[in-house]
Amino acid sequence: MKLKDPKEFREFVPITKKYIYLNHAAISPTPLPSLFEAYRYLYEVTTEGSIAVSKEEENEFFQIRSKIANLIGASVEEISLIPNTSYGVNVVAHGLNFKENDNIVTDNLEFPTVVYPFLKLVKKGVKVNIVKTTPYTFEEDIIANINKNTKLVAISHVSFNTGLRVDVKKIVKAARENGALVLLDVIQSAGAVKINVKEFDVDFVVAGGYKWLMSPQGSGFMYVKKGLIEDPPFYGWKSTENYLDFDSTTFKLEKGPRRFELGTIDVASNLALAKSCEIIDENMDMIENSVMHLSQFAIKIAHEYGLEVITPENKRAGIVIVKTKRARDIAKELFKENIVISPRGEGIRISTHFYNTEEEIQATMEKISAINRKIN
Ligand SMILES: Cc1ncc(COP(=O)(O)O)c(C=O)c1O
Repeated sequence: MKLKDPKEFREFVPITKKYIYLNHAAISPTPLPSLFEAYRYLYEVTTEGSIAVSKEEENEFFQIRSKIANLIGASVEEISLIPNTSYGVNVVAHGLNFKENDNIVTDNLEFPTVVYPFLKLVKKGVKVNIVKTTPYTFEEDIIANINKNTKLVAISHVSFNTGLRVDVKKIVKAARENGALVLLDVIQSAGAVKINVKEFDVDFVVAGGYKWLMSPQGSGFMYVKKGLIEDPPFYGWKSTENYLDFDSTTFKLEKGPRRFELGTIDVASNLALAKSCEIIDENMDMIENSVMHLSQFAIKIAHEYGLEVITPENKRAGIVIVKTKRARDIAKELFKENIVISPRGEGIRISTHFYNTEEEIQATMEKISAINRKIN
């Protein structure tokens, strides 16, 4: 589906008719073509049962993996389908065989799921360094904490609560100089801006599909660079090469990306994810331009209303955080006017996807400014 312009896509996103929806960093609406992919499959299971499932499972879900792989510059053998971001972080936490005094560097601005899984390793004597940082000093602060004991740096590409887009290459360079691996959570960037895992040279990438990738909850993927975590931390019936023999007395560890999937995956959600990836990939230049234009516009209008913006303007993607007190109350007031945003970080998070409009942003900022004056 090649789009002529971003607004054309609004036809496929019915929510645009009812709400000013600027909450893609929380949950994106699933666009109709992706919903129909999931629906088609579920309907086929209703009418065809196992025949429909077997048809879709042929080729190890190549049709799903390849569309995700294309979008992020990975090879199909490096993409596993996972139920959520948290699962992927845990695969890394428990798949890397950390030892006593190994050091993991992460930071206080991360979404908890980038940090919590590693805390389980503290019992083994692993040190989890939660670096205190800011959106303006992020790379320097992280790099200053990477040393020869650092085995992993775990960070997000785009910060959920500040909107900062991290200079990944800078961090990877410092990690490599110290022999450390890098895990990147791309849930707040994939689908909004271009990502290429080979260019970034990161080792692990994780993301649920329900934010900027516009897919149902339950969809998600992880990228594991070839050669890493060959023996996954958990086994299930699909972890063996010969899983279709259903023979529990033989086990030959699966080498492909199925090794992280354990058992049955959410096929419907991941088919929708594949469709969304296909649409996004075909229109990536236009999507990125539009996302960047709209976040720039949001910052400009916020400033015109005298509102302070936390997000670094020159290091942003699709998230803009406007500083306010009582952000929860403001969010409630906005919702009464059919405007959907989230209170996050130090204020209100505006997360515009490519098909939002300047008019929607203008109207939202005007309301935020008015409510802010009234209640603060
Ligand atoms: C950076 C980041 N990672 C992960 C998640 C969600 O994790 P999961 O997919 O496990 O629910 C969020 C949700 O807001 C997030 O912002």
